[in-house]
This record gives sequence, C-alpha cells and structure tokens, in this order.
Amino acid sequence: MVNAMKGQVLQELRRSGTSVSGQALSRKLGISRVSVWKHVNSLKSDGYDIAASSQGYRLISSPDLLLPCEFPWLKQKLYHFYQVDSTMNVARRLAKQGVEAGTIVVAESQMGGRGRLDRTWISPKEGIYLTIILRPAISAVHAPRINLMAAVAVAMVIRSLFGVMAVLKWPNDVLVGEKKICGILAEMEAEIDAVHYVNVGIGLNVNASVAREEENATSLKEELGRPVSRKEVLVSVLDEIDRQQALLTGDGLLEQWRALNTTLGKDVKIVMLDGEIRGKALDIDTNGALVVRDREGSLHRILAGDCIHLH
Ligand code: BTN
Repeated sequence: MVNAMKGQVLQELRRSGTSVSGQALSRKLGISRVSVWKHVNSLKSDGYDIAASSQGYRLISSPDLLLPCEFPWLKQKLYHFYQVDSTMNVARRLAKQGVEAGTIVVAESQMGGRGRLDRTWISPKEGIYLTIILRPAISAVHAPRINLMAAVAVAMVIRSLFGVMAVLKWPNDVLVGEKKICGILAEMEAEIDAVHYVNVGIGLNVNASVAREEENATSLKEELGRPVSRKEVLVSVLDEIDRQQALLTGDGLLEQWRALNTTLGKDVKIVMLDGEIRGKALDIDTNGALVVRDREGSLHRILAGDCIHLH
C-alpha cells in the first residue's frame, strides 16, 4: 500500500531526528531510492517541511493533519479529506459499496456536518470529524447500544489522556461540566435480525475555538488552556472503540455507561418527534433506551429523543 510505505518513510525521518540518506532509507525499507524520493516529495506536498542536503533528508516540521501516512500501523483503511460535505455521506456510500468493517472516514473540516435531529454540526478545522463503518453481529434492536459504546469510548479517552472529567448525557453526548465537547450520530441499514452496517459519526471539539453561537459547547483546548495532539486523540479513540466493541453484547457496556453518565437521577424533559415527556430518568434498559417515570408514576422507555436536564 502506497500510503503505508509513505507512512514508514515519515516514521523513519521522525525517528532519526537528523538527516537520513536516501540510500539508508531505501535499504531499511526495502524500496528503491527513486521510491524514497517520490514519497518524500509526496510528504512535502502534504505540508511536511523536509530539508534535502548532501547528508540526506531531514524532517523539520509536520502539519497538524490527520493524514493516513501518520498512522501506517492502522489495520483499518482510513479515508482522509481536507474538506468534505459530511463524513457520514462518504461513509454511507462506502458502506453500500461493501467496504470492510472498521473503515474510517476522517475530515479536517466539513461544509455540511450533520448532527442529530437534522441539526447542523459546525465543523471548523482543528476538530476531529470521523465516521467509522461497523458491521456488528447484533440484531437491529440492539443497535442503539453502539451509540452508548462510542460515547463511553470518547469519554474514557478524554479522562485517561487529559484527566478531564468527561461525563455522558443520554443518549450520546459527551459533556465537560454542563458543556458539550463531543456529539455522536449513528446511521444504519438493517433488517430486523441483521445489521448491514452502522456508521458511527463522532464530532469532537479538540483545538478549535468554540463558535459564539454554541454557548453550551466546549473543546479540549478550552478546558486545558492549550492545544493537544489530534493524532493522539484520534488513535486513542479508535483503539478504545476497538476494545469496547468486544463488550457490545454483554452488561459491561451498560455498567460503564451508568458509571460515566450524568442523566440518571435527574429530572428531565425528553423531546421526541411525536411529543415530549417530563419525569425522572431512572435507568437505561438493555437496548440503551432511557427509562423515565413521569409525575403520574407511569414508566416510559424512550429509544430516541432530545434530553434536557431540568436540574
Ligand atoms: C450530535 O450531537 O448532534 C451529533 C453530532 C455528530 C457530528 C459528527 S462529525 C463527524 C460526522 N459527520 C457528520 O456530518 N456528523 C458526524
């Protein structure tokens, strides 16, 4: 794979920290010097500053981009876009074409980023916008668990990498304090007893300043007071999703969601397509539905809706 080799050239330049000759690279990687030269030129046109001298090539600086050559060890195929309408649209086309599970679509920015309930997801540069194509062996009724799984994965990564106490708001928002730092959108094609694909879209506010119109939003940079490595965040999120997928069918996932959530026990208003329900959020059931008890004492199981914490 061209990108994998380009990635290895990049890794070698980065590892050496000094000049490496074309011959040394060619010997180490088992490719011709002309191929080395081509990969170096391709890296340069991606924005890598690489000096060439009689001693060889030296990496001076790297652009802050989520290019596939940064992740040559990833088993999954990664499609990268500088700008796209929505990674969900690309992923849907790819999923219908039959690409393998785990395929990832990532964009530096989106012009038509989509949120839940047809909202716009403002997607400036320096965030992470990704859709991962999954083909889980579960029935369609269990599919909402995938949202929970992705939310758990993102919250765990934010906590473990940065010590920022991310929490989960049903159904799948990741918050820091009361502010949203990540949103998740899942789209699937399924029959009753078989899921063809579930595309999980993750929009994570990383280094971009949050737009003024999004007063209930925050970013990692705003929480930490410094920018962070988007590459590190992306790799950690992908690793964690990989790990969490093994837990998709058992109770472990629900327990993790409960441990990280901030919705249960609160008075909530749930706005659905066909009305709204107010009451106390008691639990989530095995499919990820929110169990709410209204003032009259009736229990409601809500699979999808907008949740507002009343207090
Ligand atoms: C929400 O909270 O409303 C969900 C937001 C999901 C945004 C992500 S960004 C990557 C992917 N592409 C999109 O157009 N949307 C999702």
